[in-house]
Amino acid sequence: MELKLAVAGFMSKAVGNSVTYNRSQIVLTAGATPAIEILSFCLADSGNTFIVPAPYYPGLDRDVKWRT
Ligand SMILES: *[C@@H]1O[C@H](CO)[C@@H](O)[C@H](O)[C@H]1NC(C)=O
Repeated sequence: MELKLAVAGFMSKAVGNSVTYNRSQIVLTAGATPAIEILSFCLADSGNTFIVPAPYYPGLDRDVKWRT
């Protein structure tokens, strides 16, 4: 929670005070791959499809499909 508080403070300074960040609603991951993987798992059911405009991040296919 301490790290999330620091991230919320940093983001408020970086983006400006017009946006507020609630540390309880911040999810931290170890990079884009786990973030995409977690979002995919939360948003989709088995057999669903994501429509993504190309060109896109080459690791996206892998990130969406993997579940650790
Ligand atoms: C922050 O988020 C938590 C969990 O969703 C919520 O209970 C709390 O009221 C929120 N705090 C503010 C200041 O919005």
